[in-house]
Amino acid sequence: MFEQGLLEGKNIIITGGGTGLGRSMALKFASLGAGIAILGRRKEPLEGTVQELKDSGADAVFSVCDIRKPDEIEAAFNSFQEHFGSLDTLVNNAAGNFISQTEKLSTNAVDAVLNIVLHGTFYCTLDMGRRWIASGRKGTILNIVTTYAWTGSGYVVPSAAAKAGVLALTRSLAAEWGKYGIRQVAIAPGPFETRGAWDRLAPTEDIAKVMAANVPLGRTGTHEELANLATYLISDYAGYINGEVVAIDGGEWVNGAGQFNRLSMLSDSDWEKIRSLRKRK
Ligand code: HXC
Ligand code: NAP
Repeated sequence: MFEQGLLEGKNIIITGGGTGLGRSMALKFASLGAGIAILGRRKEPLEGTVQELKDSGADAVFSVCDIRKPDEIEAAFNSFQEHFGSLDTLVNNAAGNFISQTEKLSTNAVDAVLNIVLHGTFYCTLDMGRRWIASGRKGTILNIVTTYAWTGSGYVVPSAAAKAGVLALTRSLAAEWGKYGIRQVAIAPGPFETRGAWDRLAPTEDIAKVMAANVPLGRTGTHEELANLATYLISDYAGYINGEVVAIDGGEWVNGAGQFNRLSMLSDSDWEKIRSLRKRK
């Protein structure tokens, strides 16, 4: 689908790039010529992914960094800048989440999610944006949110509140930083199987089945599908897209929103019965 070398000359930071969707984006971007810098709290997955990237011929580095700590972000971005000379794209992908009844959450549990998703994303954005503005460089920020950033969702309420904040950040800075040539875009994935998400959000088989059953297309997304969308949005082909969020969810959220969509559970004979009840004047 994409021409070879599409992302050549672009150096891309991906937070949480050692695992899951972040790793898949890293591999895709690198296959199209990008330089990759990934960060996260655990060294092991970062090291493994960077090795994989290097084995495929890419230029890749990692830094152990907790995005809740601005000084660690500054040190990580300094080391990336030193390695690559320039940085072009930031993908705010790192997140924390779990399912819980909201009334059972401790304030520490609320903070655990808000501090990673909202504060961490904001700190990374600020650090990167300031560098670009000071040096007169253009750049692109891609935020990975969720569809419940705008619908809201029970049982993941800290995540919903934080992702809604990240979406507001996306749209706000699209307006404010557009004048510097800094674009803001977002992707709202539906369910994509990753160990991080499934361990915490679909811990039982029943919940895992519901994840796919809510999707009109009847399946979870593939990592390739998400990485393709991300590639387009960070590429120069999307140079006029700013402040936009794209859902990639097989129609899940519109399915949940449409008042009569549950009628898809009716059988043909149910519909026959309904037709026979139709009143003619
Ligand atoms: C209730 C919980 C909990 C749970 C942790 N806590 N897990 N409360 N239910 N399942 C509470 C703890 O008891 C503690 O409160 C507080 O949260 C902090 O816990 P820690 O384990 O110390 O936090 P920390 O080490 O900072 O880890 C953060 C984390 C963890 C968010 C809790 O899950 C994490 O590291 N996640 C990163 C990866 C991840 O979540 N990936 C999934 C992204 S998927 P007390 O009061 O006891 O001190 C996603 C998309 C969703 O976002 C959409 C899918 C369709
Ligand atoms: P994942 O593999 O668990 O990814 C989360 C990553 O964030 C991990 O690499 C984790 O590494 C890193 N991270 C967490 N806290 C961090 C911190 N404080 N500092 C630095 N890095 C941190 O899960 P995923 O499913 O790929 O999720 C990726 C993104 O997609 C997230 O934004 C998520 O909300 C979004 N999303 C996923 C789905 C889905 O169905 N999978 C749906 C909607 C949205 P460490 O633990 O080593 O720090």
